Amino acid sequence: MAREIRLNAFDMNCAVHQSTGLWRHPRDTSTAYNTLGYWQALARELERGLFDGLFLADVVGVYDVYGGSAEAALRSGAQVPINDPMLIVPAMAAETRHLGFGVTANLSFEPPYTFARRMTTLDHLTEGRVGWNIVTGYLDSGARATGKVKQTAHDTRYEIAAEYLELVYKLWEGCWEDDAVTLDRETGTYVDPDKVHRIQHKGEYFQLDTIFPSEPSPQRTPVLYQAGSSTRGVAFAGANAECVFIAAPTKLQASKNVIRIRDAAVAAGRRAEDILIFAIMTVVTGTTDAEATEKLDEYRRFTSIEGALALISGWSGMDFANAEPEAILKLVPTNAIRHDHNDGHTPYGDHNLTIAEAAKRVTIGAGGPVVTGSPATVADAMQEWIEDTGVDGFNLTYTVMPESVTEFVDLVVPELQRRGIYKTSYAPGTLRHKLFGSGPRLETPHKGAAYRPPS
Ligand SMILES: Cc1cc2nc3c(=O)[nH]c(=O)nc-3n(C[C@H](O)[C@H](O)[C@H](O)COP(=O)(O)O)c2cc1C
Repeated sequence: MAREIRLNAFDMNCAVHQSTGLWRHPRDTSTAYNTLGYWQALARELERGLFDGLFLADVVGVYDVYGGSAEAALRSGAQVPINDPMLIVPAMAAETRHLGFGVTANLSFEPPYTFARRMTTLDHLTEGRVGWNIVTGYLDSGARATGKVKQTAHDTRYEIAAEYLELVYKLWEGCWEDDAVTLDRETGTYVDPDKVHRIQHKGEYFQLDTIFPSEPSPQRTPVLYQAGSSTRGVAFAGANAECVFIAAPTKLQASKNVIRIRDAAVAAGRRAEDILIFAIMTVVTGTTDAEATEKLDEYRRFTSIEGALALISGWSGMDFANAEPEAILKLVPTNAIRHDHNDGHTPYGDHNLTIAEAAKRVTIGAGGPVVTGSPATVADAMQEWIEDTGVDGFNLTYTVMPESVTEFVDLVVPELQRRGIYKTSYAPGTLRHKLFGSGPRLETPHKGAAYRPPS
């Protein structure tokens, strides 16, 4: 097979996620996000389409930068109301055998010990199909909701993240030897105490003296995703991430990101190809190009500009409520998401966009590429993205649920398979096996592998 396209569905435990306002579309069912049946049906559909995973974004806090209040976000349903992403995973895992789950968790809000235990629980229950999207946050509202006045400074968050990772590696990899659980019924020994090692850590941001309470799960460390875009964020990805998610509106911007990420892996002593890179993409398809274009036009009738502006303000940390819509959108470095690599471009287009244009682009697919057309047109575009940018695959946002997913699976997947660039069955094993062909645990030169106890 030619290079296989990797695919995640990109979602969040809320309605419509990246297509603001589309919950009003008569065929959209995503307002049922708060029911198990909704997620179970989605998981079955993704597995029917042989998706590698469901990537679940998450935010702690609400989008209240726009106009200094959460009103716009609440009214338009822009990533609020929202529920916890982890709790829906076991229900979906029970419905599937292969689908992976990339769960976003913000390390600014929970101590390493309790977080590590919850991820291990998920890795057990999914039989090794779980990943962690490591984020440090961008919403001050999340910080205020959890006892701080505002977020920790942007680069300091990454310093904290580096130490947090050191600690979870110790807990996941360094505490239990592989054969610590003996279940010896004769001697009455469940666990051999000599094979469980105490973790003691006194660092700049964390202190801990404990044994990890959970026995080793299939992957131990979940597959590590990351999605930071700043200089500091990319260096962190180079050192820790196995998969990186990028949001680039054009192939040119994507290819620049790819080079930065692969260079960062090499700088951290790893191979450039050790990191799989997923680009954001939205696909609107139909049996013909004309049918797909008509569908996109119809979707646009339900979008919410107000919701998009609430998102842009939250992502950038800049309040656009009183800005002139025809003014050029200029992003300056703030304590939220930084775009210091974009050569002055916005992350929503290939030229200087007005605020109104940027908001319109964000209403469908968050400003990433929107590929509209017949299965052949979509497959061409995906192939070109892979070949021209060096990304490994895509995080596909949806417009209207479930038709976005169902149409992709029915129409585009067979076309990709016909071209020999998409799998026709799942590989066996854990998520790490499926993505990298080896596993189930982190392997050298990934730094996490160095935390194993001698056995
Ligand atoms: C494509 C993309 C997706 C992201 N998804 C999330 C998310 O779901 N939840 C979150 O809290 N942060 C998310 N982030 C934020 C980052 O992971 C990071 O914590 C934040 O952007 C600050 O770092 P940065 O300036 O290096 O991007 C995302 C960022 C990018 C670029």
